[in-house]
Amino acid sequence: MAINRHILLGVSGGIAAYKAAELVRLLRKQGDEVRVVMTESATQFVSPLTFQALSGNSVHTELLNAQEENAMGHINLARWADVLLIAPATANIIAKCSHGLADDLLSTLYLAVSCPVYIAPAMNQAMWSKTVTQENVAKLKGQGVTIIGPESGEQACGDTGFGRMSEPAFICEQLVAKPVERCLQGLTVLISAGPTREPIDPVRYITNRSSGKMGYALAHAALKAGATVIYVETAAEMYEAVMAKASGCDIYIGTAAVADYSPDVIQPQKIKKHASQTTIILQKTKDILAAVAKLDSCPFTVGFAAETENLEAYAQHKLHEKNLDMIAANWVGREQGGFDSEQNALQVFWKTGQKNLAMMNKTQLAEQLILLCAERFNEKNTT
Ligand code: PMT
Repeated sequence: MAINRHILLGVSGGIAAYKAAELVRLLRKQGDEVRVVMTESATQFVSPLTFQALSGNSVHTELLNAQEENAMGHINLARWADVLLIAPATANIIAKCSHGLADDLLSTLYLAVSCPVYIAPAMNQAMWSKTVTQENVAKLKGQGVTIIGPESGEQACGDTGFGRMSEPAFICEQLVAKPVERCLQGLTVLISAGPTREPIDPVRYITNRSSGKMGYALAHAALKAGATVIYVETAAEMYEAVMAKASGCDIYIGTAAVADYSPDVIQPQKIKKHASQTTIILQKTKDILAAVAKLDSCPFTVGFAAETENLEAYAQHKLHEKNLDMIAANWVGREQGGFDSEQNALQVFWKTGQKNLAMMNKTQLAEQLILLCAERFNEKNTT
């Protein structure tokens, strides 16, 4: 089914580069628009003219392109892409991407894109099985990249083993990513983000480690998806603000790390430090998420679960106890992901299924979650 994605195809220098020509043809046949980026060594195997003719677009080979109005061709290309596919991917480009090197256009694009990335390796079987290559591939997977293949079989160099690039038709089938654009067209999404601040006195408050990055990334992804986003920033007033808007919304996503307790009394003056110990009585706050899910005309309600242990069990409990449509669970307090990190990973649960979204930057992750929300929302509203 044609879904008109913008596919940025990176071709690196291996004999399988010739198969990338067939890949371009198949992608275009199914309605995708393709722009090709070639490494210098790829141009030794196949002429850029071949890809230009097949894609209908000029081929990009230079990092700094004086022809571009702002000389920022790589940023423009990165913004354009719905999917970055590197096929064939040599051991060299895999090593560069996994380590964040950016010394040519393709490796720079890998760093610059926020869309899903697919990599189809192709190399000699000994190079593929080398520990360092396997470590680099594992690193890429950890960054949220989907690896397609390679296959086992006879190789151009005469060896037999794993390292052949997957067939173009198979690679096409694996590109399941859809553009986030317009998947929520016309819908209103209410997203709570960031920490709350519970005042103790005029100068002090209780808060948590949330930076708001995950919530803001979701708001941007929802905007890109065509939704109207209402920004809510306040702390203690979040309950009132959300409840005033929730009934009129189609989707509510509770990303905010709302305080579970707040000081019972806010002291009107700064508390003096005379006593060697002090006690602050905390009252449980109202659960905004549960209240939204209880509304008569409740929106499609998505909660988050931030856990330091028993991630799945606690998330499933919150899903059922609060009667949510979906819950996105993440580990917090670990080295990677969670609070204040640029990256995160989510295990998403709904009553009849689940999906794992691997560790990736929060912009990319937010788009994946918004796509999933759109899918689940549409299913709920058509059944
Ligand atoms: O902001 P970042 O630095 O980018 O970090 C992102 C994040 C880790 C904060 C985010 O991904 C996340 O997990 N947000 C939810 C944090 C949280 O409060 O989780 P919880 O398991 O304590 O709460 C469960 C759900 O109930 C959440 O959807 C929360 O918004 C909601 N809740 C909690 C208490 C309350 N009084 N009202 C609520 O609505």
